[in-house]
Amino acid sequence: MSDPKGMRRNLANYGDAGFSVFLRKAFIKALGYSDDALERPIIGIVDTGSGYNACHANMPDLITAASRGVMLAGGIPIPFPVISIQESFANPTSMYLRNLMAMDVEEMIRAQPMDAVILIGGCDKTVPALVMGAASVNVPAILLVTGPMLAGSFRGEKIGACTDCRRYWAKFRAGEMSEADITEANAELAPTVGTCGVMGTASTMALACEAMGIMLPGGACAPAVSAERRRLAEATGTRAVAMAAEKLTPDQVLTPAAFVNALRVVLAAGGSTNALVHLTAMAGRLGIGVDLAGFDRLGRETPVLVDLKPTGQHYMEDLHHAGGLTPILRQLAPMLDLSCKTVTGLTLGENIAAGRADFAQDVIRPLENPIHSGGAMAVLTGNLAPNGAIIKQAAANPNLLQHEGRAVVFESLADLAARIDDPALDVAPGDILVLKNAGPKGAPGMPEAGYLPIPKKLGQMGVKDIVRISDARMSGTAFGTIVLHISPEAAEGGPLALVRNGDRIRLDTAGRKLDLLLDEAELAERRAELPLKPPVPPRGYAKLWFEQVTQAEQGCDFAFLIPEITRVIP
Ligand code: FES
Repeated sequence: MSDPKGMRRNLANYGDAGFSVFLRKAFIKALGYSDDALERPIIGIVDTGSGYNACHANMPDLITAASRGVMLAGGIPIPFPVISIQESFANPTSMYLRNLMAMDVEEMIRAQPMDAVILIGGCDKTVPALVMGAASVNVPAILLVTGPMLAGSFRGEKIGACTDCRRYWAKFRAGEMSEADITEANAELAPTVGTCGVMGTASTMALACEAMGIMLPGGACAPAVSAERRRLAEATGTRAVAMAAEKLTPDQVLTPAAFVNALRVVLAAGGSTNALVHLTAMAGRLGIGVDLAGFDRLGRETPVLVDLKPTGQHYMEDLHHAGGLTPILRQLAPMLDLSCKTVTGLTLGENIAAGRADFAQDVIRPLENPIHSGGAMAVLTGNLAPNGAIIKQAAANPNLLQHEGRAVVFESLADLAARIDDPALDVAPGDILVLKNAGPKGAPGMPEAGYLPIPKKLGQMGVKDIVRISDARMSGTAFGTIVLHISPEAAEGGPLALVRNGDRIRLDTAGRKLDLLLDEAELAERRAELPLKPPVPPRGYAKLWFEQVTQAEQGCDFAFLIPEITRVIP
């Protein structure tokens, strides 16, 4: 017997399939559908909009355009809502909700009838959550991002969320901007709807997903407010109907080679460190593991080619005008697996060959003239990070990448907030700021707190960067000499928990090492003195989180959602 199609898929169970279809049709006909319409292929459209989410505020337009595309191809579009997460409107942090959203996406695709699904979203955690959920169901799925916002302008300077948010806030803290100045800048940092306009996590994930072939070519960069974004939505709808007929499922697209291509693009774009966590979680849903040492090797081989903030100068709208992802893929072609199948039904190589090649170019560098040849990110290990840590060296101060200093320790985010600007804080330029208990379980949710503020007294002395280390993440829009994702985290009793004020720490980025300069006997003594772990919360999502969340190198997904890992990349 062939698989049920359209309205006959995923029936509510009354013990009588005929009655289930009859009842379903009776209810949906209340919306005015004809019997003819209800016999067409159904394309579900995931709606991740909400009044809190300006990154997705073009959702109604995109759903309209995608629906038009579906109907042009003879299908019926049915939008449905899932959780909406915007970075600055999620307490304690958006990452804490990513897995909940992925579960929502997975179960609502599984529960409702659809022959294919269009995943619309863009803000940082949304794209991974959408792909994690859809990959776990494995129905034909195509991603459409909401697209980046346009850049703003402040006193003649082009600005945008959120690299400039952090730059201006640091100036304000250092007394270089007045209250009136910072308020004026605040109104220009996000001048249109859409995702952050720099190479933050949203832009990085959009490029990575286009490179992986789960999105139409050209899909990553068109601005949220552009007509082209709506045309992409229409084309996505049309293609979704064909994918339903072809049964082109995520497991055919999201292969190990496709993930390696995506990791290369993240590195070449000088992308967000968060992308590594998210791609690991996405790959995990397909039984694919990501080896950090292998990722470091990719980093050494893959130069940074894209001149966008925070590692470079430009904004996403400039990358769009420079041709978007396709020219990047052309440069990287010798390093990519061009045979990967994509949602177009063609290979990545065929998509690249079909793309325009006549863009004026001052955003994407050729392979022989990169912005950074040393790689965007490096993986560190050592006695402070036995299971790994990450540094985005392309966004760091080169003079601090090899550094030994005295630890100035903050036990938690609350401790950091209470003391960082205390005039009595014992801190000097050359010290290393250490933040503990900000990892997956520590905060909880591994917040983007790794970009510790420069202590006010150092800022007022003109200090612009200082080595900062933590088990937290960092916004892709941030910059500085910052070591992140230290694993195991302090809250799990990792060595980070053992650091005390005044200890010496050595960061050796070239040697890929991060070490606490104490002998093993002292470390063992301190380990024995560590307090007991706090109890798991008694109920609800918090209980699930604490019992199931994995460490950064496993993507911070829930252990019970990850199938057996059978393949490891790169
Ligand atoms: Fe949504 Fe940056 S806050 S993309």
